[in-house]
Amino acid sequence: MRIAVIGLGYVGLVTAACLARWGHSVSGVEADLGRLQSLRGGSLPFHEPGLSDLVATVTADESLRFHSLDELPTAVQHADVVIVAVGTHDGNGGWQTLTMSRTLDGVVPLLSDRTSLVVRSTLPPAYIASLAGTVGAIRDGAGIGRIPVLLNPEFTREGRALHDFNVPDRVVLGIVDDPDGAGEAVMRTLYGAVDAPVLAMPAVDAAFSKLASNLFLATKISFANELARLCEAYGADVANVVTVMGHDPRIGDQFLQAGIGFGGSCLPHQVSMTVMASQDVGLPAPLLSAVDEINHMQRTLFADRLFRLAGDGADGVHVALLGLAFKPGTDDLRDAPSLTIAADLLARGARVTAYDPMPTARDRAAQLVPGLMVAASAEEAIAGVDAIGLVTEWPEFGQMDWSALRGLPRQAVVLDGRNALIAQALEAAGFVYEGFGRRAPTRPSAPVTAAAIPVHTEPAPFLVADSAPTIGPSASLALAD
Ligand code: UGA
Repeated sequence: MRIAVIGLGYVGLVTAACLARWGHSVSGVEADLGRLQSLRGGSLPFHEPGLSDLVATVTADESLRFHSLDELPTAVQHADVVIVAVGTHDGNGGWQTLTMSRTLDGVVPLLSDRTSLVVRSTLPPAYIASLAGTVGAIRDGAGIGRIPVLLNPEFTREGRALHDFNVPDRVVLGIVDDPDGAGEAVMRTLYGAVDAPVLAMPAVDAAFSKLASNLFLATKISFANELARLCEAYGADVANVVTVMGHDPRIGDQFLQAGIGFGGSCLPHQVSMTVMASQDVGLPAPLLSAVDEINHMQRTLFADRLFRLAGDGADGVHVALLGLAFKPGTDDLRDAPSLTIAADLLARGARVTAYDPMPTARDRAAQLVPGLMVAASAEEAIAGVDAIGLVTEWPEFGQMDWSALRGLPRQAVVLDGRNALIAQALEAAGFVYEGFGRRAPTRPSAPVTAAAIPVHTEPAPFLVADSAPTIGPSASLALAD
């Protein structure tokens, strides 16, 4: 098939490269000339595991070609499918649909009657509701016939985007305007390559299914974070509790990792935008408001605890943050908890040195947070500090020989913001360890102060000492996902 992908950001570039790998002839169109030049030179504007090699392969055999916006007519003229994947964030936690509208104005009049238009960007429901009318009016205005218009929301995670594209759990098609089913048929053929159910439905349902999936994932994380606080009050260990919960298939074991909460360009933005949009139409959204509030609380809680562990109020407190990206496998700093936490600690008068394995994340963080110092290695970051905070669970932090690092910080104290390190290993290496909702292995359960909360002095029989795997001298990492 001949496919054009408009917009080569995270979503568009992954889509274009994977479709080219599936054997299609793909034209990728990018409006940003700097980004286009980098792509043509073989350099990607962001880090995504495996994508650089894939792009190199599919550009070498010319199954993927890059085009500027000026070359749009060439890119789309013979396309069976044109996929639009332009940005819809305003950079301040809100939606912006201007780029999408401008793109449609430019692309829609160029398409032949046999081309299907597919929108892959995540958009607000009100915009989706008007999409059929918008495209129809552009076609009518140009005096040309209607075309099939569909949504194809993406469910790929940064850091695992190639896997998620190639092995999806489900493919969703939202029918915007497709009277004779030609658009749905071509998309079903396109996704014939994957072993996943293809679910076709009205566009608004498809758009909400994408939104609802992210809102539910965010809700699970905030639930786990509130649960972690309850566990601390009861002296329970949240790792054991969610392990037990996860064995129930009705609950599932993913996205229950407590810590500093969710970041990135999707979950925080979609939760806060849904709350705001609900308020605008007079609908209260108390559950999602709480999800948002808990998520923000986690960042403050982390800064509070790290500051306290470092020696609360002492002059010249110096802390290290391990990890800056919003999650491992990416250099993305969009709504990364690290930035809020670093700014908060600096505002309290702490000195903050951060390290992330991604040099691009280090450079950008230093620009975004005035006063933040970045180090070229984890060892350099923790040298002489009063406390260490783990912010992103990069595997290398779990694989470090913590015993050998024991002498580097001024105080050997680790606050694990991702509950990713093995507490016993850290303590065996001579560190004081604190996680979120975790019982310190060598210290008694925290006393319960609230009179209303019943105190269980004996652990429940089903709770084992610690569900984390036994490890050798170096702590190894239990990854969140
Ligand atoms: C999310 C969804 O997971 C994807 O399915 C969706 O396609 C994508 O948004 C999107 O809308 O484009 P992503 O933003 O890449 O993907 O990141 P997630 O893997 O969802 O992680 C989000 C945040 O939650 C990260 O900061 C992560 O550290 C945090 N998290 C995740 C937790 O705090 N606890 C967990 O148990 C899991």
